[in-house]
Parts: sequence; structure tokens; C-alpha cells
Amino acid sequence: MQVVHTATELRAALAGATETAFVPTMGNLHAGHIALVERAKRLGRPVVASIFVNPLQFGAGEDFERYPRTLAADCGKLEAAGCDLVFAPDVAEMYPVPQTYAVHVPEAMANDLCGAFRPGHFSGVATVVLKLFNLVQPRVAVFGKKDFQQLQVIRDLVRQFNLPLDIEGVDTLREADGLAMSSRNGYLSAAERMQAPQLQRELAAIAAAILAGERDFAALTATARRHLNMAGWRVDYVELRDAATLAVPTADSRRLVVLGAAWLGSTRLIDNLDFAPDADR
Ligand code: PAJ
Repeated sequence: MQVVHTATELRAALAGATETAFVPTMGNLHAGHIALVERAKRLGRPVVASIFVNPLQFGAGEDFERYPRTLAADCGKLEAAGCDLVFAPDVAEMYPVPQTYAVHVPEAMANDLCGAFRPGHFSGVATVVLKLFNLVQPRVAVFGKKDFQQLQVIRDLVRQFNLPLDIEGVDTLREADGLAMSSRNGYLSAAERMQAPQLQRELAAIAAAILAGERDFAALTATARRHLNMAGWRVDYVELRDAATLAVPTADSRRLVVLGAAWLGSTRLIDNLDFAPDADR
């Protein structure tokens, strides 16, 4: 496995290979990231991973500075998973001049769900992902459903700009107690870590109620928010959406997704669950 840090080295290492499968990350890799690499491997293509903590997608007062940077350990995990090439640029390499051009994410998406609480976040994500796609020129890129809204933004970006690659989405990997794996779980105290799976349980309870025939979505999400607030969380949102569009569900919605974001102390966790409400009916 080769590790490169500059665009020039990357170009040389790729030597024109445009049939790769690409896994963009911010590092501090866990089994969820490795599941993306394994999916990329199964596509039978050379696998490229990137590790870059992207300042553009962090707001003022967010965790850009303290985000864990663990390059050596990450490279060990990627090599073990069969990754072929790692691109790990620094900020000056990714942004040699001030990034005054950016992807405009439409307000309806940019200011919705996580975007409502993280102004500029999805424009920062879309901009760095577009740059990474241009640098790596992959045939396929693999993203996790853990960041469901991010995956939707990337799918829209690829479709609306006719980017010549396919996007693959991979199911969320969880700890044994149901907590979605995340680099941010490392911020949790022991007590918070014990409490953290409650977010997933509240989302699962909403999905179970809907599968059982309940249709008062507003009451279900309000109950989940109340449970979380009572247990000491600070809830950003719990929402039900159409899984194909992220719009408010209609009677025609074939798949739904229940999404939540909430704070335990100084740690913000997100999770979601997508399901077909009429699967067994
Ligand atoms: P990062 O948070 O490092 O996540 C990298 C990829 O891993 C994303 O596609 C994310 O959805 C996926 N992922 C994270 N936790 C997962 C889990 N438990 N199960 C499955 N997949 C999981 O997302 C980013 O980085 C950045 O925004 C990035 C796309 C790299 C742009 O900077």
C-alpha cells in the first residue's frame, strides 16, 4: 500500500488509473470506515482512500482543532483491509489558494436537518468531495449511510454535475449495544458512552411503531424528543423523511428514514434508520 501526501504524488501513483473505487474519510478510522473499504474491494477495483480533516466543513466553535488525527494507525488498518493507495494531504495541499469558489447546496438541503444546526457544513463537504473526485478521478465512490444527508448531497452533486462516477451507500456499522460507530464516540465519558445507544433505540422505536401501523409521525418524533430531553440529551432534531429524497414523506413514499441528532454533554451524535413502512403488509 502506497501513502502519498501531494496531488503530484497522487497523479504519479494513479498513473492514469480512472477505474478505481474511492473511499473519502477524515481518518481516525473504525470498523465502519473499514466496511466501506471492504465494499470497495468487492467491486474488484484498485481501492484509493483519502484521509483529510476538512476545515471547510467545520463551523466556528466546532471540533476541527480537537478532531483526532491518527494517520499511522489509520494506514495500518487500511493496509490490513487491502487498500491500495492512501491520499493524505495537509490543508495547504488541498487549499493552496483561498477556496473562494464553492459548491452551492440549495437552501432546502443546506439549511435542513444537520444543515440547520451546522451553517455552511454541506457546502464545505460538497466542495471538498468535488475536489477529491477531481484529484482521484474514481469510477466509484463509497459512502456510509451513517451520514444519510451527506450521502444525499453527494448523490445530488454527482447527478446534477454529471460527474462520471457511481456512488455506493453502505449500511451503518454499530457497536454491540447498537451505538453507531463514529470517530466522535471517543469524546464520550464512560457515563455518556453507556447512555449513547438511547438515540438509536428511540429511532428504532419510531420505526417499529410505523411498521405496526402508527401514522402520526409528529407525535412519534415528539415522544422521542421528549424521552431524550428527559434523559439529559440536548436534541437538535428527530425527523421522519422520505428516504429517496429526504423531503417530508407523502403517501407515495416507499421507504422512510428516521433521522436524529442530539448532544450528550459536549458531544454531538447523529444516527438514522431507513425502512419500508409497508414491507410486510
Ligand atoms: P468521516 O466522518 O471520516 O466518514 C467517512 C465515511 O465513513 C463517510 O462516508 C461516513 O458516512 C462513513 N461512516 C462513518 N461512520 C460509519 C459507520 N458507523 N458505518 C458505516 N459508515 C460509516 O464523512 C466524512 O468523513 C467527511 O464528511 C468526508 C465525506 C470525508 C468529506 O470530508
